[in-house]
Amino acid sequence: MHIKVGIIGCGSIARHRHAPEYKANPYVSEIVFFDRNPERAKGLAMLFGGSVATSVDDLLDDPTIQIISDCSSNEFHHIFSTKSLEAGKHVLCEKPISLSIEFANKIVQAQKKSGKKLMVDHNQRFTQAHMKAKEMLENEELGKVLTFRTTFGHAGPEHWGVNMTNSTWFFKHNRSALGVGGDLGIHKIDLLHYLLGDEIEQVSAFQGALDKVDENGKPIEVCDNIVCSLKTKRGYIGTASFSWTYYGEEDNSTIFYCEKGIMKIYHSDEYQIEVITKDGERVKYQIECMQTNDHQTSSGVIDAFVDSIRLDKEPLVSGEDALASLKVILAILKAAETNTVVTI
Ligand SMILES: NC(=O)c1ccc[n+]([C@@H]2O[C@H](COP(=O)([O-])OP(=O)(O)OC[C@H]3O[C@@H](n4cnc5c(N)ncnc54)[C@H](O)[C@@H]3O)[C@@H](O)[C@H]2O)c1
Repeated sequence: MHIKVGIIGCGSIARHRHAPEYKANPYVSEIVFFDRNPERAKGLAMLFGGSVATSVDDLLDDPTIQIISDCSSNEFHHIFSTKSLEAGKHVLCEKPISLSIEFANKIVQAQKKSGKKLMVDHNQRFTQAHMKAKEMLENEELGKVLTFRTTFGHAGPEHWGVNMTNSTWFFKHNRSALGVGGDLGIHKIDLLHYLLGDEIEQVSAFQGALDKVDENGKPIEVCDNIVCSLKTKRGYIGTASFSWTYYGEEDNSTIFYCEKGIMKIYHSDEYQIEVITKDGERVKYQIECMQTNDHQTSSGVIDAFVDSIRLDKEPLVSGEDALASLKVILAILKAAETNTVVTI
């Protein structure tokens, strides 16, 4: 099978994950790049091989292109991903699926109508340690989960995106809206849904633009920190914090406190899971390295998406899964804004 791929948006995520992972996939024969900044598309075509399109329609009108990776900034996902599905393409959409439930629903409906595959890049599900943790939680190796604590934070997107300045779109309300919640928080919400096999139903939260300033030295228009309490439908309770101000070191850890002990994931540099049993025994699992902004490894997402098309399987992260996580982030922001507990 020879699959031709179109990538819309040739910034950091296209450069570090989509393009290299498509290039490494044995079933992908060609990549066509498009960016509204043509130099970026040309740059990736030079780096990874492939051609350059002059418009989104160029990609969508090409019947030989089967997959579109939507790596545009957040405010465009509902436009490009919807159009691509309507044009009969399989779509790998970057997270967050959209900035509003209405827009996310447009993509989900377009997928249903088209019958094409849609996956959203909630890549935390794909790491080996998270897959191992899921297996251990499903087998109730530590009994039932009682509470959890998760966090995701780094020094901020002005150190990641293609525009490495404080004028980055990640800091603008009309382009990123959900701030650190849509950037990092939504990953952990998806992970909790996946690991617990449950959905968050109630939230309370505090948020703020605590430290980041824009290009004019003014506090940014979106939140750079969120701290929240979460309760799932089945009654698990826990806390989560999401931050763009963890200066010096990224934190991507999750801890489950269970009936028979504790499971710590990505809590140490040397091993990826540590289990501490009720009687104090410690078991360390060395499985792989965590992918960070500074240390990029294959996410496994692209291979999984290509396989879902090749083998006609349901993608691991559906549009509905991504919509469910978006609803939680929107509820968290509403809870913080109204100082109330919000039920989803
Ligand atoms: N899954 C992950 O772990 C992960 C990590 C980082 C970013 N992302 C997501 O990937 C997406 C892109 O983020 P990024 O970090 O690459 O940002 P970026 O700013 O580095 O790149 C975005 C690119 O999209 C292009 N673009 C924007 N609007 C466009 C349009 N209308 N038409 C054509 N091109 C357009 C820009 O010119 C830019 O080159 C975002 O949705 C972000 O949330 C996901």
